[in-house]
Amino acid sequence: MSTTHADAVTRAADTVRAALGGLQPRVAIVLGSGLGQLTDRVTNPVRIPYGAVPGFHLPTVPGHQGELVAGGLGGVPVIMQSGRFHMYEGHTAQVSALPTRVFATLGADTLIVTNAAGGIRRAFGPGTLMLISDHLNLTGRNPLEGEVLLGETRFPDMTVAYDAGLRALAHLVAIKQGTALAEGVYAALLGPTYETPAEIRMLERLGADAVGMSTAPETIVARARGMRVLGISTITNAAAGISHELMSHADVMDVANRVADKLANLVTGVVEGLSS
Ligand code: HPA
Repeated sequence: MSTTHADAVTRAADTVRAALGGLQPRVAIVLGSGLGQLTDRVTNPVRIPYGAVPGFHLPTVPGHQGELVAGGLGGVPVIMQSGRFHMYEGHTAQVSALPTRVFATLGADTLIVTNAAGGIRRAFGPGTLMLISDHLNLTGRNPLEGEVLLGETRFPDMTVAYDAGLRALAHLVAIKQGTALAEGVYAALLGPTYETPAEIRMLERLGADAVGMSTAPETIVARARGMRVLGISTITNAAAGISHELMSHADVMDVANRVADKLANLVTGVVEGLSS
């Protein structure tokens, strides 16, 4: 019998559900480069290594852990995904978004995605936190290709990919915390190369404010499943050609780590805001 992606989702979700022992996460949080330590804030954590979940892969990128951590955050049951399956690692878009489908299957109704990104808008220097208002999926891939999975439709609407109410809540929390929070359009490219200056000029003309190599697959699946999505980029560097510095993953990690606490406070504050 051939196995389908629907089977893969079911198998992974059954394994995670069994490991959670009755805990039902409401909010799923994807931790991008440098944000892994948000898992330390989870109360009564249940840690599920990726090796224990069928279909999950061990991360190959420094700065990405490989575990799900579920428990409480700000009084809300959450599940955190510490480590992504990037398409540039050779994964299909379906595999890249498998954890999102698992979270939806477990009943989570909200997805918070974080990532590291290059700043295209000149005002978005390293260390800027940018709420994602919309995205350009320029990866050339889509996690909804192929079979239509149970609970999804063939042609999901993407008019409001990033929830307006969650964005308003994030701005309120940021003001309360004294954190500057920008907002802009995230362009997702396949990677793994950083962009050329010509590509950045192209992206700028297309309306992108930031550029990265993730997030679009997860948001697409979440919307197809009717989850609300909040996306936050840490701008770790000026995109290629905007400054004269060359791109390096070490610099990306450094800056991401430098603002990780601020981002962790913001995400925690938003989750707390969901409980009231
Ligand atoms: N480009 C693409 N992805 C990134 C960048 C960038 O400049 N910085 C961090 N992730």
